[in-house]
Amino acid sequence: MTTPSAVVNPAPAIRSEAVAPAPPDVPRVSRRGILRIGFFAGIAAMLSGIGATLLNSLYPRGVAGFGGPVAVLAAQIPKPGAPPVQNIEGHFLLVNLAPGEGRLASDETPAEGGLLALWWKCPHLGCTVPWRNDFVSPHDDGHRRGDFVCPCHGSTYTRAGVRIFGPAPRSLDTMEIELTKTGITVQTGKRREGSEDNPRRAIPYAPLPPRPPTT
Ligand code: FES
Repeated sequence: MTTPSAVVNPAPAIRSEAVAPAPPDVPRVSRRGILRIGFFAGIAAMLSGIGATLLNSLYPRGVAGFGGPVAVLAAQIPKPGAPPVQNIEGHFLLVNLAPGEGRLASDETPAEGGLLALWWKCPHLGCTVPWRNDFVSPHDDGHRRGDFVCPCHGSTYTRAGVRIFGPAPRSLDTMEIELTKTGITVQTGKRREGSEDNPRRAIPYAPLPPRPPTT
């Protein structure tokens, strides 16, 4: 007689399950933190916007008028010895010096004369200095007629902007002049501090010959 074979339950298979790595710790940002980040991001965006606007306004491009080139046509240039011409656009006074004109009585260095562009800003406290055709300075040689006279504290300057008298620390500043086909261009951004040397900074200028009549 055969005995029934015992049914042996197979041993449960040991399954080795891969253990998933624990997720990295993600720092939790609180609601308040999010609000704070948003606030500072907004401030940073606003500041960078202001900075960009400021830089844009300061960047010199296509500067015209004072600070850049200002053209003066031949017809607007004064004759040698004539009263200076004020240029509103460029903030300067255009002088056509006759030979030797504009020096102090004590200055014996020759000056050939010519065109000089004087910045109209008084070097004392910045008032605009006009030309006074009738003014006779009691200083210097005491005979010359016509001077630049500052209306604020009375500094006076020769036709070449050389300081004669008053609290101004120096002579009127000069601007660079270039000759052109139609007259001159004054580079109002290229200025030199004024000094007794001003008369010798003038550039010779010959008026353009008259155009031949057209037939
Ligand atoms: S501002 Fe011209 S003398 Fe004072």
